[in-house]
Amino acid sequence: MRKGLKATSVLLVFIASATISLHPLYPRSIEAAPSLVLKNEVYVPDPPTKRTHLYELQLLIVRLEEFGDGGGAIEPLGDKVLVVTPRGRIAVIGADGEISYLPQEVPMFASPPDRPITWVGFRVADILLKETAPEAFTLFVSHHYLAGDCVEFRVSSTELNAEDGEIVVSGDWKTEFTANPCVDQELFESWEGEIPKTGGGIQAGGKMLMDGPEHLLVAVGDHAWYEWHEYQEEGDPATPPVVDPDSHLGKLVRIELATREVRIVATGFRNPQGLARDNEGNLWLTEHGPQGGDELNLVKPGLDYGWPYATYGILYGNRAWPYNENQGQHEGFEEPIFSWIPSIAISNLIVSDSPQLPLWRGDLLAGSLASGSLFRIRLRQDRVTSFERIVLGERIRDITQLDDGRIVLLTDSAKIIYLRRAPIYCHMDNDSKSIFTYDADEVCVDVLSAVGETEDPKIRALSELDIGTPRMRSYFQVYIHENLLVYLRIPCSAHEFRNRFFLHITPVDAEDVSEELRDFGFNVYDFYSYDEGIGRAMFEGGCFVVRDLPEYAYKHIYTGQVIREESPDGEVFWKGPVWEGSYTFGPESVGAAPDEVSVSPALPQEEASDSGAALFTTYCAGCHSLTDEHSVGPHLEGVIGRRAGEAEGFNASAALATLDLVWTQESLADYVEDPTRFAPGTSMAKTGVTAEEARKIAEFLAWDR
Ligand code: HEC
Repeated sequence: MRKGLKATSVLLVFIASATISLHPLYPRSIEAAPSLVLKNEVYVPDPPTKRTHLYELQLLIVRLEEFGDGGGAIEPLGDKVLVVTPRGRIAVIGADGEISYLPQEVPMFASPPDRPITWVGFRVADILLKETAPEAFTLFVSHHYLAGDCVEFRVSSTELNAEDGEIVVSGDWKTEFTANPCVDQELFESWEGEIPKTGGGIQAGGKMLMDGPEHLLVAVGDHAWYEWHEYQEEGDPATPPVVDPDSHLGKLVRIELATREVRIVATGFRNPQGLARDNEGNLWLTEHGPQGGDELNLVKPGLDYGWPYATYGILYGNRAWPYNENQGQHEGFEEPIFSWIPSIAISNLIVSDSPQLPLWRGDLLAGSLASGSLFRIRLRQDRVTSFERIVLGERIRDITQLDDGRIVLLTDSAKIIYLRRAPIYCHMDNDSKSIFTYDADEVCVDVLSAVGETEDPKIRALSELDIGTPRMRSYFQVYIHENLLVYLRIPCSAHEFRNRFFLHITPVDAEDVSEELRDFGFNVYDFYSYDEGIGRAMFEGGCFVVRDLPEYAYKHIYTGQVIREESPDGEVFWKGPVWEGSYTFGPESVGAAPDEVSVSPALPQEEASDSGAALFTTYCAGCHSLTDEHSVGPHLEGVIGRRAGEAEGFNASAALATLDLVWTQESLADYVEDPTRFAPGTSMAKTGVTAEEARKIAEFLAWDR
C-alpha cells in the first residue's frame, strides 16, 4: 500500500511530546558526533544517561580510592577537577578522567593522635580556589584539626600552581581562621573495644565562598549543640553557642584575608551545607534541619535564621522541636525561602550557568545526601517557583561546574560524576536519501541534507506559530525550519503501518501553516497520544533526534517530501511525495550501519511487536483514540472503570448500555474478543484479535497514563 500524503488516505497518530522550546538562540555548540571513546578506563564504559525535564544528561563516572565516610569537596581547575578527600588527601582528575594523588595532605593533627578517629564528623568540609595570578591559586580548606583534646574547626590555606597543566601544591599551610570555641574530642566519642575514639566534629557545616577578592565567607555549623546538651548534659539551653556573640558556631562569618579579622554576618544556622551567590547578588545558604526542615535561606547581613529556637524540623522520633515556642512554626526569626519536609539532607549548591544547559541558566542546583538526588530549583523574585528532583541514586556531597558547562558531583561513595548534555549520534551522508543514523537508542534524521540545505538551521518551535490548538501542539513534534515544516507522526490504523515513525518534511510558507496546511496535515482523523511507546524527538544541533524508543523490537522510519504547488487560478495543492525513504532497524541492526534506504513505496514487512500497546495500535487505534476525542468508536481514555456505552458525547448503541456494567480488564477483554457474542447488537465488529491479544490490550488500557 502506498503511503500517500493525501489527507483522505492518512490516518494519523501524532506523537505526544512535551513542548520543547527551541528557538534561534538554541546553541549549536553541542558535539555533533559522540565522543564516547574514552581514553581512561576509570570511566564507566557505557555511560548511563538520565532524562530530566528539559535535557537528556549523560553521566561519566570516575571512581576515587575509597575514602571512608562522607565529606570532602571538589573545585574546578580549568578542565580538571581538584578533589580533597574527607581525610585530607588531595587529588586531581584530569580532563581524560585520570586521577593523580598529590603528595601533600591537609594538616589535621597537631601531633600524631593517641586514639583512633571516628571520621564521621571529623573531616575536611570544603575547599576553595582563589586565583592570585595566571595559573596560580590559593587553596583554602575548611577542616577539623585535633589539638590536644580539642577538635578545632579551621580554615587553612596553601599555594597551588597550575602552570603547564601540572598541578603543584606547595604544602606550606597557613591557618586563616579557627572557630571559637573548639569542641571536646570526647563529645560523641565512640569505642573500639576498650579504646575511645575521637568523636567531636559532627554538624560542622563549613562551606566557603569568596565575598569579593579580599574576603572569605565561612558558614560554621553549631557542632551539634543540641545533641551535646541533651545527651551529654553539656551547656545550658538558654545560652547555646549560637546565641553567644563571641562564638562562631552556628554563624556565617566573613574573614578579611589580609588581616584575618573575623566578623559575624548572620546567625541561627544549624549545619550549613551550601553557599552560593546568584546573578542578582543574592546569597543563598542551605542547611540541615534536625529531622525535617532542611532549609534554603536567602542570607542578609545581621539577621537571625532561627536555630535552635525556630525550625520546621522536629526531634528525631518526636512530633515537636522542644525549643519552638509555636510548634510547627518558624516565627520570630528569618523564614527560610524553602524548607524540605521530610528532609533530603541538602548539600552544596551552585547557580547553574552551563552553556550546555541554557534552559537551566540561573537555577540553583543543590545536591542531596538522603534523597540521592540533584535538585534544580527555580527562583523568581526571591521565591522558589518550582523545583525538579533528579534522582541519581548517590549521596551527593559537593557540586561544581566546569567552564565547558559540565556539572561535576562528588558523592559519598567516592565517585566523581560528570554530567553533560547527552551527545548526539548524528552523521551526515552525502546521499540525500540516506539521512538516517542509528546508534544506541537514538535515531538521528539529518533533515537539512535530506532537503539539500547546507545553511545552519533556523528552527522555530511550533509553539511560536499559531497552528492548531494547544492540545494538538502537545501531540505533534513539529518544527518550522524556514519554509520547511517538519513533523513526526506515527500512523495507527493499518497493519502495514504499525510501529512506524513517519517523518514528513514538507515545504510550506509560514502563512500556509495556519491555512492550507491545517487542512492538509492537521485535520487528522485520529490523535493518539502514545508517549510511552514512541520515545521523544527533538532538534539538536541541526539533527532531528529520536530517543528512547523502548516499546518495540523493530522500528521503522519513513520520510518523504511533498511539494506545494499553485495552479494558475491560485488553487493550492500538494504533490508528492516527490521522494520517500524508509529505514527499519531493530535488534540485529543495533550498532550496525544503517540499512539502505528504499526509495520505493513498499515498506518491508517486519515482525510486529506483540505488546498490548502495539496490538492496540494495530487493531483498535483506527477507530478509538486515547485522548478525549471520539472517532468511529468512543474514545478509550480511562475506559476501565467507565460504564459501558456511556462515554460522554458518544452515541453508543443500546446494546452497550443495556449491559449495565462497568468495564473491567476481564469484561473488556471478553467484549473485544467477540463483541456481538458479549453484547448482541453492538455496532463494533470483530477485529480478529485472539483471547490472549484481547487480554493484553485490556491490560494496556488499564495503565495509568
Ligand atoms: C472498525 C472500528 C472499530 C475497531 C477497529 C474497534 N472498535 Fe471498539 N468500538 C467501535 C464502535 C463503533 C463502538 C461502539 C459500539 C456500540 O455503540 O455498540 C466500539 C466500542 C468499544 C468499546 C466500548 C466502549 C464503551 O464506552 O462502552 C470498547 C471497550 C472497545 N470498543 C474496545 C475496542 C478495542 C480494544 C479494539 C481493538 C481490539 C476495538 N475496540 C476496535 C468501533 C471499533
